[in-house]
Amino acid sequence: MTDYSELLFKIKSLCFQTENKISILANVSAVLFEMEDVSWAGFYMLEGDKLLLGPFQGRVACIEIEIGSGVCGSSFKEQKTLIVPDVHAFDGHIACDSRSNSEIVVPIMKDGSPIGVIDIDSTSFDRFSEVEKDFLENVSILIADKF
Ligand code: SME
Repeated sequence: MTDYSELLFKIKSLCFQTENKISILANVSAVLFEMEDVSWAGFYMLEGDKLLLGPFQGRVACIEIEIGSGVCGSSFKEQKTLIVPDVHAFDGHIACDSRSNSEIVVPIMKDGSPIGVIDIDSTSFDRFSEVEKDFLENVSILIADKF
Protein backbone atom coordinates (compact mmCIF):
# COMPACT_ATOMS: atom_id res chain seq x y z
CA MET A 1 0.00 0.00 0.00
CA THR A 2 1.23 3.46 -0.85
CA ASP A 3 1.72 5.68 2.21
CA TYR A 4 0.17 8.88 0.86
CA SER A 5 0.88 10.93 3.99
CA GLU A 6 4.57 10.09 3.60
CA LEU A 7 4.53 11.09 -0.09
CA LEU A 8 2.73 14.34 0.75
CA PHE A 9 5.33 15.09 3.42
CA LYS A 10 8.12 14.52 0.86
CA ILE A 11 6.42 16.81 -1.65
CA LYS A 12 5.96 19.56 0.97
CA SER A 13 9.68 19.36 1.76
CA LEU A 14 10.62 19.51 -1.93
CA CYS A 15 8.50 22.61 -2.41
CA PHE A 16 10.59 24.41 0.22
CA GLN A 17 13.89 23.60 -1.52
CA THR A 18 13.67 25.92 -4.52
CA GLU A 19 11.51 28.51 -6.23
CA ASN A 20 12.32 27.02 -9.66
CA LYS A 21 9.13 25.67 -11.15
CA ILE A 22 10.71 23.07 -13.45
CA SER A 23 12.88 21.69 -10.63
CA ILE A 24 9.82 21.38 -8.38
CA LEU A 25 7.69 19.67 -11.03
CA ALA A 26 10.57 17.33 -11.92
CA ASN A 27 11.10 16.20 -8.34
CA VAL A 28 7.36 15.99 -7.59
CA SER A 29 6.87 13.76 -10.65
CA ALA A 30 9.56 11.46 -9.25
CA VAL A 31 7.70 11.24 -5.93
CA LEU A 32 4.36 10.64 -7.68
CA PHE A 33 5.97 7.80 -9.63
CA GLU A 34 6.60 6.09 -6.27
CA MET A 35 2.83 5.48 -6.10
CA GLU A 36 2.13 1.78 -6.33
CA ASP A 37 1.01 0.41 -9.70
CA VAL A 38 1.60 3.62 -11.66
CA SER A 39 3.08 3.61 -15.18
CA TRP A 40 3.25 7.36 -15.89
CA ALA A 41 3.21 10.40 -13.60
CA GLY A 42 3.67 13.98 -14.66
CA PHE A 43 2.39 17.35 -15.69
CA TYR A 44 0.82 19.17 -18.62
CA MET A 45 0.99 22.94 -18.18
CA LEU A 46 -0.87 25.73 -20.00
CA GLU A 47 1.27 27.33 -22.71
CA GLY A 48 -0.64 29.72 -24.96
CA ASP A 49 -3.94 28.02 -25.76
CA LYS A 50 -2.70 24.42 -25.30
CA LEU A 51 -1.41 22.08 -22.63
CA LEU A 52 2.29 21.38 -23.04
CA LEU A 53 4.11 18.33 -21.67
CA GLY A 54 5.99 19.16 -18.49
CA PRO A 55 8.30 17.11 -16.27
CA PHE A 56 7.26 13.47 -15.95
CA GLN A 57 8.36 9.92 -15.16
CA GLY A 58 7.48 7.08 -17.52
CA ARG A 59 7.46 6.49 -21.24
CA VAL A 60 7.67 9.19 -23.92
CA ALA A 61 4.33 11.06 -24.10
CA CYS A 62 2.49 13.36 -26.48
CA ILE A 63 3.78 16.92 -26.31
CA GLU A 64 0.67 19.04 -26.88
CA ILE A 65 -2.94 18.53 -25.82
CA GLU A 66 -5.78 20.79 -26.90
CA ILE A 67 -7.97 22.25 -24.16
CA GLY A 68 -11.04 19.98 -24.01
CA SER A 69 -9.23 17.00 -25.62
CA GLY A 70 -8.53 13.71 -23.91
CA VAL A 71 -8.70 13.22 -20.18
CA CYS A 72 -6.15 15.96 -19.51
CA GLY A 73 -7.80 18.59 -21.69
CA SER A 74 -11.24 17.68 -20.29
CA SER A 75 -10.12 17.92 -16.66
CA PHE A 76 -8.48 21.27 -17.41
CA LYS A 77 -11.55 22.63 -19.20
CA GLU A 78 -14.04 21.35 -16.61
CA GLN A 79 -11.72 22.41 -13.76
CA LYS A 80 -12.33 19.17 -11.92
CA THR A 81 -10.61 15.90 -11.12
CA LEU A 82 -11.44 13.08 -13.54
CA ILE A 83 -11.07 9.45 -12.46
CA VAL A 84 -11.20 7.13 -15.48
CA PRO A 85 -11.45 3.44 -14.46
CA ASP A 86 -11.17 2.24 -18.09
CA VAL A 87 -9.48 4.62 -20.50
CA HIS A 88 -10.74 2.59 -23.49
CA ALA A 89 -14.28 3.58 -22.54
CA PHE A 90 -13.44 7.32 -22.31
CA ASP A 91 -14.50 9.07 -25.48
CA GLY A 92 -11.50 10.97 -26.87
CA HIS A 93 -8.89 9.42 -24.59
CA ILE A 94 -5.39 10.14 -25.94
CA ALA A 95 -3.37 6.92 -25.83
CA CYS A 96 0.24 8.00 -25.30
CA ASP A 97 1.13 4.62 -23.87
CA SER A 98 -0.90 1.68 -25.14
CA ARG A 99 -0.30 -0.16 -21.85
CA SER A 100 -2.38 2.37 -19.90
CA ASN A 101 -5.78 1.11 -18.70
CA SER A 102 -6.84 3.66 -16.08
CA GLU A 103 -6.03 7.26 -15.34
CA ILE A 104 -6.59 10.16 -12.94
CA VAL A 105 -6.17 13.80 -13.89
CA VAL A 106 -6.28 16.65 -11.37
CA PRO A 107 -6.35 20.33 -12.40
CA ILE A 108 -3.88 22.77 -10.86
CA MET A 109 -5.85 25.91 -9.99
CA LYS A 110 -4.23 29.32 -9.47
CA ASP A 111 -6.35 32.31 -8.44
CA GLY A 112 -9.49 30.56 -9.66
CA SER A 113 -8.15 29.53 -13.09
CA PRO A 114 -6.52 26.28 -14.23
CA ILE A 115 -2.80 26.55 -15.09
CA GLY A 116 -2.10 22.86 -15.74
CA VAL A 117 -2.91 19.30 -14.71
CA ILE A 118 -1.36 16.40 -12.84
CA ASP A 119 -1.74 13.21 -14.91
CA ILE A 120 -1.26 9.70 -13.51
CA ASP A 121 -1.66 6.47 -15.52
CA SER A 122 -1.79 2.83 -14.52
CA THR A 123 -1.68 -0.42 -16.47
CA SER A 124 -4.34 -1.77 -14.06
CA PHE A 125 -8.02 -1.11 -14.59
CA ASP A 126 -9.83 0.91 -11.90
CA ARG A 127 -6.59 1.81 -10.11
CA PHE A 128 -7.67 5.22 -8.78
CA SER A 129 -10.23 6.13 -6.13
CA GLU A 130 -11.18 8.98 -3.79
CA VAL A 131 -7.99 8.23 -1.83
CA GLU A 132 -5.78 9.20 -4.79
CA LYS A 133 -8.12 12.11 -5.61
CA ASP A 134 -7.68 13.57 -2.10
CA PHE A 135 -3.92 13.04 -2.18
CA LEU A 136 -3.42 14.55 -5.64
CA GLU A 137 -5.71 17.51 -4.94
CA ASN A 138 -3.50 18.30 -1.95
CA VAL A 139 -0.41 17.99 -4.16
CA SER A 140 -2.06 20.32 -6.67
CA ILE A 141 -2.57 22.99 -3.98
CA LEU A 142 1.09 22.76 -2.94
CA ILE A 143 2.25 23.15 -6.55
CA ALA A 144 -0.13 26.02 -7.32
CA ASP A 145 1.43 27.88 -4.41
CA LYS A 146 4.80 27.87 -6.23
CA PHE A 147 3.41 29.42 -9.44
N1 SME B 1 -4.12 9.97 -21.68
C1 SME B 1 -3.99 11.40 -21.62
C2 SME B 1 -2.83 11.87 -22.45
C3 SME B 1 -1.56 12.01 -21.70
S1 SME B 1 -0.79 10.53 -21.38
O1 SME B 1 -1.67 9.67 -20.56
C4 SME B 1 0.63 10.75 -20.61
C5 SME B 1 -5.27 12.06 -22.07
O2 SME B 1 -6.19 11.38 -22.55
O3 SME B 1 -5.37 13.27 -21.95
